[in-house]
Amino acid sequence: CIVTVAEAFQNIVNVCNGPLRYPLRPLRNTETAVTRVNFLHTAEAGVTGTIKGLTTSQLEEIGCQIILGNTYHLALRPTSELIDELGGLHKFMNWPRALLTDSGGFQMVSLLHLADITEKGVTFQSPVDGKPMLLTPEESIQIQNRIGADIIMALDDVVRTTITGPRIEEAMYRTLRWIDRCIEAHKRPNEQNLFGIVQGGLDPVLRDICVRGLVDRNLPGYAIGGLSGGEDKDSFWRVVAQCTASLPEDKPRYVMGVGYPLDIVVCSALGADMYDCVYPTRTARFGTALIPEGVLKLKHRAMADDTRPIDPTCMCMVCKNYTRAYIHCLVTKDAMGSQLLSYHNLYYMMKLSNDLHSSIIEGQFPDGELYAYMYPLQSIS
Ligand code: GUN
Ligand code: ZN
Repeated sequence: CIVTVAEAFQNIVNVCNGPLRYPLRPLRNTETAVTRVNFLHTAEAGVTGTIKGLTTSQLEEIGCQIILGNTYHLALRPTSELIDELGGLHKFMNWPRALLTDSGGFQMVSLLHLADITEKGVTFQSPVDGKPMLLTPEESIQIQNRIGADIIMALDDVVRTTITGPRIEEAMYRTLRWIDRCIEAHKRPNEQNLFGIVQGGLDPVLRDICVRGLVDRNLPGYAIGGLSGGEDKDSFWRVVAQCTASLPEDKPRYVMGVGYPLDIVVCSALGADMYDCVYPTRTARFGTALIPEGVLKLKHRAMADDTRPIDPTCMCMVCKNYTRAYIHCLVTKDAMGSQLLSYHNLYYMMKLSNDLHSSIIEGQFPDGELYAYMYPLQSIS
């Protein structure tokens, strides 16, 4: 199943059921508070203060402007107190560019099935000693203030988009009540940008109430949450289209936990600016490279004597120096295999982001023939 950008755009037209907003809006990274966020970049989940398999100097070389860390993981180890004591996360991990931390609730709910949400906060069993613990909106912000990322996220009540009923409504209103507790608890508003997160499942009425509520709080940026949880593409894109249509033009819009190359192309066309996803490095660890035609499975037998680079059109360090045959040989035997693939995959995502960025500035999107970003990703070998 090949989906080209052109076909994706057709899908957007179907989703929006009306004229599109692209060629797009002007750059919106002029907001002083977020000058370090470069409009459109793929952060990648460095759950414990690292992008798996890459050094920070490699990330700089690739051109990453912002990376993501998780409050939940960092709070458990090394702990936010220690990070604070050692001068903050930038210094601790030796990363001079921007950082974003997620608030922690989502990770607890998705990783620990024992997590339970009440008005007070998210209760969960400590993976360290099994004791019940509570993460309140105030604590999430306090921890994120200590970690010191440039962008911090409000604690939200996330429910899967695949469930229905009153729980969706409850979670949306609770997310709105919690944003006030987060704002109140935020002690470093001049250094750290607190983003609110739009919830409301697939219900346009609930999403609308949430967007309005958050916009009223005049936050430095907004995220669209609760997506990429198993809903179909049309529903997913429809929610993004609806939210971006009523979020402020001059503030960043961040679609959380997204995504695949095609999702980024589509969501950017719909007016989103920022994304984060483990996909490029996770798929690398499974021996998969992202290429313009789809994906390349380096474990495949056919790679054993293939002397071409992963992607002959790619200018990255890996494609300049190594053959498919060599990486094929590494992937099953040495960590270097997934490290090289992670490098290439992040380079690919950054190039995609930068190409989208340029084409937005120039008032046109990449050509469908040149950029056949696909979903579901097709394997070629
Ligand atoms: N990561 C992916 N989706 C979400 C979400 O809805 N909320 C939070 N806090 N993090 C996310
Ligand atoms: Zn490459």
